[in-house]
Amino acid sequence: MKRHKSLETLSFEHHDALVIALRIKKGVQKDIDLTPVAEYALSVYKNHLRHHFEQEEATLREPLLANPQSVTAIERMMDEHERFAEIAEFLELGKGDRRALLKEFAELLDSHVRFEERTLFPLAEKLIPENQLEEISAYLHKEHKPIDKDWPVEFWKN
Ligand SMILES: [Fe+2]
Repeated sequence: MKRHKSLETLSFEHHDALVIALRIKKGVQKDIDLTPVAEYALSVYKNHLRHHFEQEEATLREPLLANPQSVTAIERMMDEHERFAEIAEFLELGKGDRRALLKEFAELLDSHVRFEERTLFPLAEKLIPENQLEEISAYLHKEHKPIDKDWPVEFWKN
């Protein structure tokens, strides 16, 4: 998919997020102690995803909430960001069914990324004026941190 330059760093991060979602899905499917899987999900959330979500909210929330054509989509984005925060909090506190939470985390990450790439970002590219996209671009390129995919316990492997 052709992505406007302003949103390209977010799309790079999405690519990494899909790899992470797949790893967690694989971990959850195995009959293993889920502690390393939960630690991984929490670490990824705190060190990378939370920052990614903040960048999206800082740049897209205001312009897309202001346009009736994109209100539903931007609200979905924010609701899902909030759900990630809740799941992370539950995992951290050891509350709830850990396997179910990790499964939801992985599935939501996958569907959330696909929704943003297929629906939200095309709306942003269409509705946000070019000069504003340029400003967004400068901010996002400054804030971009590639997601570190190294992790000592490779629970997703056989
Ligand atoms: Fe995103």
